[in-house]
Amino acid sequence: MASEKKKSSYISGRESRKITRFNRRVTRRLEKERADANKDPALYTTVMKNPDNVVEFDNVCTYFFTDVGVVKAVDGVSYEIPVGKTVGVVGESGCGKSVTSLSLMQLLQRPSGQTVGGEIRFNLGLGDGKAYNIVNTPNAIMEKIRGNRISMIFQEPMTALNPVFRIGQQVDEVTELHHPEMSKEDVKARTLEMLELVGIANKEGVYNMYPHELSGGMRQRVCIAIALACSPSLIIADEPTTALDVTIQAQILDLLQNLKNKLNSSIMLITHDLGVVAGMADYVVVMYAGRVVEKGTTDDIFHHPSHPYTIGLMRSKPVVGKKVEELYNIPGSVPNPVEMPDYCYFRDRCEMQCDKCAGQYPPEIRISDTHIVTCYRYMDGGEVIGYPKSVDVEAL
Ligand SMILES: Nc1ncnc2c1ncn2[C@@H]1O[C@H](COP(=O)(O)OP(=O)(O)O)[C@@H](O)[C@H]1O
Ligand code: SF4
Ligand SMILES: [Mg+2]
Repeated sequence: MASEKKKSSYISGRESRKITRFNRRVTRRLEKERADANKDPALYTTVMKNPDNVVEFDNVCTYFFTDVGVVKAVDGVSYEIPVGKTVGVVGESGCGKSVTSLSLMQLLQRPSGQTVGGEIRFNLGLGDGKAYNIVNTPNAIMEKIRGNRISMIFQEPMTALNPVFRIGQQVDEVTELHHPEMSKEDVKARTLEMLELVGIANKEGVYNMYPHELSGGMRQRVCIAIALACSPSLIIADEPTTALDVTIQAQILDLLQNLKNKLNSSIMLITHDLGVVAGMADYVVVMYAGRVVEKGTTDDIFHHPSHPYTIGLMRSKPVVGKKVEELYNIPGSVPNPVEMPDYCYFRDRCEMQCDKCAGQYPPEIRISDTHIVTCYRYMDGGEVIGYPKSVDVEAL
């Protein structure tokens, strides 16, 4: 069995060289296109489908061109983030949550990681729905968007901060970068204001401290201050409380929510913790193996979970006051990302499959105004919206 497995994943020297050549050709061309600062703006400006959204992911495909083949980390993902709302993105580790957000920031590991298909529309906030398609936006413009219009809070505040610079310097730096017209005094005043806003009482003291002198929760507050320094229209919080103590988690989430409301920003909240989403999100997107399997309001997902994977997630969540012998766990494992099956990715683990499930990957089906599920069980009675589309890598 073990040797059979080894055989199937074995790559000969010839195949390996072929993969390397192919990867180099494709990634070089894509990198060259992206570096072109004088690109015609018509190639990357577009309009939002709905001007009330800050971001629209539309059939986004982000692939990694690795030595063992193409990993389709995100493959045909579509969802929206409305202005002023929090969207929770959930799913088990490795399902493509972070890669989706890194595609939006154009912070993928280069050159192997590339967004090869779809559109990511980012609302310019001019009121007319004008937008950038981030997939084609050149690096020079991305530098003005990152940290300014869209900012990010990471899981591990110690690694996000630079250990050799004082806190004040690190917050100042962001404001200086995006507002070179501000004087040194104004920048410092703004930093102190931000530190106060994120609930740091001893702001003057903290301004002069190094990251190691602060607790985990305080460091995450500093990261939030950095993220909010330029009043972004979208904050991406990738597992923002996973590395913190449970008691601090709630404080940090409260703080994020309050600041979001103050700035009228939106939050993309990435987490594997359903409890975090329940308390904070307006909408929830459930991902599985690089695709969205279900999306809707938080109420839809928590009270009417419909995709068998979401139903499994809800069953595997501990409930306070409910005594169980053993927590449910979803049988089986995620398929190999290099060779995804041509049928429903969840089929081999699904306890609810029917005859239709033998066919191609299921379409997105609307089962209410706000609720969409990618599963054949809802074919009768629901409205078929469309199929997630992969990119043919051979044609690149
Ligand atoms: N730098 C990389 N090189 C190759 N594959 C990657 C890389 N980063 C991510 N992946 C692939 O993308 C998939 C999704 O990763 P990620 O978005 O980080 O998952 P998560 O949902 O836990 O945030 C992973 O399963 C992994 O196979
Ligand atoms: S399409 Fe079929 S196999 Fe896939 S999740 Fe739905 S019921 Fe299960
Ligand atoms: Mg992640």
